[in-house]
Amino acid sequence: MRTKVAITGAGPAGLLLSQLLHRLGIDSVVLESRDRAYAERRQRAGMLEQGTVDVLRRSGAGERLDREGLTHHGLELRFGGAGHRIALSELTAGHTVTIYAQTEIVKDLIAARLADGGDIRFGAEVLSVDPKTPSVTYRQDGATHTLDCDFVAGCDGFHGVSRHAVPDLRTYEREYPYGWLGILADVAPSTDELIYAHSERGFALHSLRSPRISRLYLQVDPADDLASWPDERIWAELRARFATDDGWELRDGPILERSITPMRSFVAEPMRYDRLFLAGDAAHIVPPTGAKGLNLAISDVTVLAEALGAWYGSGAAELLDAYSGTCLKRVWRAQHFASWMTTLLHIDPAQDAFGHRQQLAYLDYLAASTAAATTLAENYVGVAPTL
Ligand code: FAD
Ligand code: PHB
Repeated sequence: MRTKVAITGAGPAGLLLSQLLHRLGIDSVVLESRDRAYAERRQRAGMLEQGTVDVLRRSGAGERLDREGLTHHGLELRFGGAGHRIALSELTAGHTVTIYAQTEIVKDLIAARLADGGDIRFGAEVLSVDPKTPSVTYRQDGATHTLDCDFVAGCDGFHGVSRHAVPDLRTYEREYPYGWLGILADVAPSTDELIYAHSERGFALHSLRSPRISRLYLQVDPADDLASWPDERIWAELRARFATDDGWELRDGPILERSITPMRSFVAEPMRYDRLFLAGDAAHIVPPTGAKGLNLAISDVTVLAEALGAWYGSGAAELLDAYSGTCLKRVWRAQHFASWMTTLLHIDPAQDAFGHRQQLAYLDYLAASTAAATTLAENYVGVAPTL
């Protein structure tokens, strides 16, 4: 069995790459260890940079995103009992962000690929990747198969196998003493714009999925068990962290989904070895506070699709050779931003009173200074020069 590009993983990175390659007339096969229902259900990101929306549109899978995505022009930083708006669009010459769930992007891309006769194999667990031959070995229905190819795109996420095929990989990692308890709730959002709240009790984020569904997150101990967070405790803690002096109220409702995610920063370099190219969470993880993970994954595969297009079109290898360096520049800018937002907004259990006063001083500065707010805004919407 042979294809041009073997893609490991049907997350947003692998699926979008397959779709972009298809538009360029390049065949690919996507190998995904889970079943389709699982891939379409996994609750994760929701905030898309404008560049991400543009690429999804260009890929031909943006029709529902255009209809159902919620455009946002600002966000709220909440601390000291009051909200402070960061006017994202005003500060970035009109750029916006869009709320549209990762689950929906995955559904749209799977539907688009299958409608065009695309080859996505669910229940196909990649066992190993050979960057030199090149080929991928996988197990499906109890049998082991080999897929030969011109290139392998390692899009199998942080727990995948493709990264381990790169010899002498340099890795950089930081773990945080925080986890996020995320819930999806059947209740209309209590806000029109995202609220990033810093309180002495810890961080909380109010996001949304639709005019009827809310998405909320709470900083918790990463070792916490969901069993110790019954519904009443979750809502009481959210209420306490979002509390304002003017009596703002958080609406609650049935919790449809819940999970706890540990937080880490991770980068693997280089992102290419011979015929293997790593993309998305397979190569890097950011803490979700800056909302960058999915956007980076989309950006990586956009660069990779263009480079493969040039190679198949004219044999030009320059873009493929530049792939790792091009992506890592953006990755490190996003790493810094995500880690900065995380440290600014969370309460480190080991931090002293001095550390907390410094956080508040910086938050005051962000609320008062156009220069400081612009720095946040251009990174958040994804137009900082190296993003
Ligand atoms: P994944 O989505 O992890 O996909 C990898 C795929 O590979 C999976 O389907 C997996 O099953 C498959 N796989 C793994 N191993 C194998 C194997 N051996 N064989 C075959 N298949 C395999 N990012 C943002 O930009 N904005 C946000 O608002 C945001 N919020 C987040 C909130 C939370 C709570 C979390 C956890 C993450 C958030 N992120 C956010 C990050 C974002 O979800 C990820 O960066 C994104 O999923 C990366 O996509 P990917 O395709 O690289 O990897
Ligand atoms: C989300 O909507 O899931 C979301 C939004 C912003 C973040 C993280 C997650 O920073």
